[in-house]
This record gives sequence, C-alpha cells and structure tokens, in this order.
Amino acid sequence: MTTATEGQELTRVGPGTPMGELMRQYWLPALKASELIAGGDPVRLMLLGEKLIAFRDKSGRVGVMDHRCPHRCASLFYGRNEQGGIRCVYHGWKFAADGQCLEMPNLPPDQDFSAKVKATAYRVTERAGVVWVYMGSRAEAPPMPQIEATLLAEGEVALNFTQRECNWLQALEGDIDTSHFSWLHVGSVKPDQVDADNWLQYQVTNRAPEYQVSDTDWGTMYCAYRPARRGQTYWRFAHFAFPFWTFIPQGDFADRVIARSWVPMDDTHVMFVGFTWTQASRSAVLKDGGQIPGSTPAPDYLPNTTDWFGRFRPVQNASNDYLIDRDAQRNDVIYTGITHIAMQDQAITESMGEIVDHTYEHLAPSDQMITRTRRRLLIAARALRDKGVVPPCVDRPELFQQVRSGECELAAADWQAAYAERLHQARHPDLLQVAAE
Ligand code: FES
Ligand SMILES: [Fe+2]
Repeated sequence: MTTATEGQELTRVGPGTPMGELMRQYWLPALKASELIAGGDPVRLMLLGEKLIAFRDKSGRVGVMDHRCPHRCASLFYGRNEQGGIRCVYHGWKFAADGQCLEMPNLPPDQDFSAKVKATAYRVTERAGVVWVYMGSRAEAPPMPQIEATLLAEGEVALNFTQRECNWLQALEGDIDTSHFSWLHVGSVKPDQVDADNWLQYQVTNRAPEYQVSDTDWGTMYCAYRPARRGQTYWRFAHFAFPFWTFIPQGDFADRVIARSWVPMDDTHVMFVGFTWTQASRSAVLKDGGQIPGSTPAPDYLPNTTDWFGRFRPVQNASNDYLIDRDAQRNDVIYTGITHIAMQDQAITESMGEIVDHTYEHLAPSDQMITRTRRRLLIAARALRDKGVVPPCVDRPELFQQVRSGECELAAADWQAAYAERLHQARHPDLLQVAAE
C-alpha cells in the first residue's frame, strides 16, 4: 500500500520536492514547436509548478523563462517579442532567449547594469516537432533520451498534446493498469463480434489475464498473458521509463512505435505528450467491419487560450460529464457511454480527484505494475535527495533503445525470452535513426 507520506512524495512536483527534483534531471517535452512562431506571441507555459513563458524570437531562437521580469516582476507574457529577445513593457528591459538582460533603457547609460542581470531561463532544444526543456541545474544539460518514436523523421510521427486535470501519476498509472482495457474500453464487446484470429478476441474472452512484472534499467516492465491457439501464448508487453514515460501495447511490435509522456504542469494538471509512428492502416476491428463502438471519432478540442491551463483541452470534460450517453451505456453499446478511448481514460482518472487519496485504495495483484513503479520512483527520488544519486536514464539515454511495447503470439515459455525475441525481429535498421548527440 502507499502511505499518505509516500503519496505526497510521489505526487508533488514543485521546486524542492523529491519528485520535482527528480523530474528536473530530465529533458521534458513541453510544447509543440508550431506553437511558437518567430516574432509571434509569447505562450504561458506551466511546467513542474513554475510559471514560464515560451517565445521564439525573430531569428527563430526559442526562449523558455520565468514569466516574471527580474526588474520588478511584471509578467513578460505582455512583453514585446523583438529582434534578439523579449522586451518587458513596464520599463523596457530586454532579455535574450537565454535570459541575459541586454538593455535597461529606463536608466542613464552610466547606471546600466544589464550585464549582471539574467532572467531564470532554461535550456531548450527541438526534436520531432516538439520543444524540449531542461530545468535542471547542470552546467551542461544531459543528453537527449534516445526514445525511438522521437528519433524518427519529423512528419512521420503523429503528435498528441492533451491536458488532463489531475495529478500526473494517476494519469500515468492508467497506461500501466492493463486489466482495465477489457472493461473500460471493450467491456461491451462480445466474443462473437470479433474474428477468431483477431487478438482482441483474447481480451474479450478472458478478461482476467495473468501478469509478470519486473524492474528494468530504464524503469519497470510487465507482460499480461493468456493462453492462445496452437499451444502458443498471447503476450502484451509494456513499460514505464523514467521519469514519466509509458509504452503501451497496441498491435504488433513491428507495426507501431509509441512513446507517451505525462509531463506535470503542476500538482493537479498534467500535459499528455504522445508520439506515435505506425505503418499499419487502422483496420476494422469487428467482424462486421466496424470499429469498437465508442472508440471513434477522435475527440474535439476547445480553442487554445492564453491561460496557464488553456492549451489542448478536450471538449469532453468534467463540466459536461464527458458527454456521457447513458442510453449507450444502459443498452451495452458503449460500456462507459463515453466516446473515445482516450476520453474514457480522461474521465476515469480525473474522476479520482485532483490528487488521488492513496490511503483509500485497495490495490490488487492486477495492480502490481503500479505498486512496483511507485516503489521505483520513490527509491530514485530518495536516492537523489539523500545521496545525490543520478536517476536512471539521465546519463544513459541509449537505455531507451531496448524499450518497445506491443502484442504477439509466441510459443516461448519465458516472458523475458518472448520479449527479446519479438524485439529483435521487429527492429528495422531504417527505424532507428539515432541522432548524433
Ligand atoms: S518590471 Fe520589467 S522592466 Fe521593469
Ligand atoms: Fe485506458
């Protein structure tokens, strides 16, 4: 079980908190690169409980810095995005993308001390259409993680940003809580609706799989498994990787490369940033050629606003009960009555409250991936806090190359052997284009 104290340690992400400091060791995917137009409007960015602004100056350089002007704390959100930096509109001080103060035009030249003033600004890089931010204190930022889906050619990877209004951990735990799939998402699908050779058949026939879970160099991994045809086993492999990445099983290893991150905005909001590469056109799932009822269409989003929490909000939200259709639920057409798989997850994890009360839980053997992942996070955060131990993957970005999620049918007796075999088969030299760091 997770105690109230452990729950606090796991969920709080502000400066000086154990988990907040752990997160600050890593590069964080923070914005779509397209949100920042050269010379365009600054964007309010909430990250790990810090209010930041992000902008792209006229020459294309991206700045991510504390939104408060270091002079008298006016918000630089209202600043003028000029050539070579952003200018505070209160007294005209100007700051380069790296935070360096360049001008203090409200002072006579002999009183100018701009060389000594720097806004709190963070290291930034761009990859896979995303602006990544490093909020740690190292003089030299660590290497970028070699996460497969973020290394593929830009434009091949589909990006998804969605804000969720709850703590980052309960949102992430939805991705590693595999047994909910057969209920929340396909609870109304009957075996006779699915072809015998479709892997979904296993999930709607046996809704209580067995599990194996283990620690890994990059975090944790599990497999859920069920007996399959011809003496084989149907395996589903998935991972958690530090500090907030998940890799969920969706189809064959070779057909899809997925990376999902749950980037804490503050203690009660998280930005989901997902990267997906797929080569399989999404085929009809059910015998009748249709999709799982309620799995489509894709959710709609409200227009972005300039608010700290105004980016990538779904139309379906707590204020409208996620547009639940009680008739569809009652008639067993859509198990939840809520349309779209991601919105079903959104509704359920937000419904737990802003920060789940861990002392109220009764965790079961089906939750062993969750308990192990919490333990790994706590051990790493405490080791960093108490002994300065660098957490997993920070200096070993290549560990991510061993991480792939997926499903398969194999005769292997041992789950680790099955994973190694399928990973090896699925690896394609063209797929892994590790950028020279
Ligand atoms: S508060 Fe920004 S220039 Fe004075
Ligand atoms: Fe789900």
